[in-house]
Amino acid sequence: MSDLVVARTRAELAAARGALQAPVAVVMTMGALHAGHARLVREARARGGSVLVTVFLNPLQFGAGEDLARYPRTLDADLALAAAEGADVVFAPGPDVVYPDGEPGVRVSAGALGDVLEGASRPGHFDGMLTVVAKLMNLTRADVCLFGQKDAQQLLLVRRMVRDLDLGVEVVAVPTVREDDGLAMSSRNRYLSPFDREVSLVLHRSLAAGEAAAAEGPSAVRRAARDVLRTEPAARVDYLALVDPVTLADVPEHFRGDALLAVAARVGSTRLIDNVPLVIGRAEG
Ligand SMILES: Nc1ncnc2c1ncn2[C@@H]1O[C@H](COP(=O)(O)OP(=O)(O)OP(=O)(O)O)[C@@H](O)[C@H]1O
Ligand SMILES: [Mg+2]
Repeated sequence: MSDLVVARTRAELAAARGALQAPVAVVMTMGALHAGHARLVREARARGGSVLVTVFLNPLQFGAGEDLARYPRTLDADLALAAAEGADVVFAPGPDVVYPDGEPGVRVSAGALGDVLEGASRPGHFDGMLTVVAKLMNLTRADVCLFGQKDAQQLLLVRRMVRDLDLGVEVVAVPTVREDDGLAMSSRNRYLSPFDREVSLVLHRSLAAGEAAAAEGPSAVRRAARDVLRTEPAARVDYLALVDPVTLADVPEHFRGDALLAVAARVGSTRLIDNVPLVIGRAEG
């Protein structure tokens, strides 16, 4: 526990990074760490090199009217979790360290893949996310970065950025960690009231119903998932989409093969997302 190094400045990060054994695996987070983040750190640890966790609440990926001001900040608990999971370094900079000149004029553009699903509801979100991911890859000199499948569009866009811009970082996907009742772990779950927490289960139940219909084809998947969502009007659905996992285009009726069923809904004042990868046209198991 005790040998975790905490770096708050660029100089502290450079010193800590210099002492790390390659390969350096980086887990990027916005803090308020939970068991999903712990799983990413464990997977990073299992790769045999060093583990660096970043905790940075990136203002650039929040839109006006989003929850930046009230986002949970729990740095002491985050450091304890990172230490317990065997991280070597936590880089926890403030915005002035990451953006010393203020908001960057030059940014990464997510392109068309950043305009659909999450991007349709959160304009500019993915440009802000990719910009900070690129900066943190460079600042940490990451060999490997691990990302959660829960944020499937983010994972896809990071992969594209690394390919399209030849960043030379290995990107590893980690499956979604869930509560016992199926709710995908998220830092934002702590906004949920007890009532909201019950309502939130409809996301996972809807995805499970879609998954169970995968053998029957796209319209059966969509119908099954939509029917479950309709049982819970307190969950205000933003989108339910069955898409190609690489292009994010809606899959056509006779599509067979790998697809992604993704959902976003507002429960109380909290926006939740979840998804499952599935194979259309083939029985599960
Ligand atoms: N339940 C989960 N299972 C696996 N990975 C996860 C899970 N939740 C988050 N992650 C991953 O952790 C990394 C950091 O995510 P982040 O700090 O945004 O946490 P978060 O729980 O997604 O918070 P929020 O819901 O507020 O965005 C991302 O790669 C994300 O995909
Ligand atoms: Mg997140």
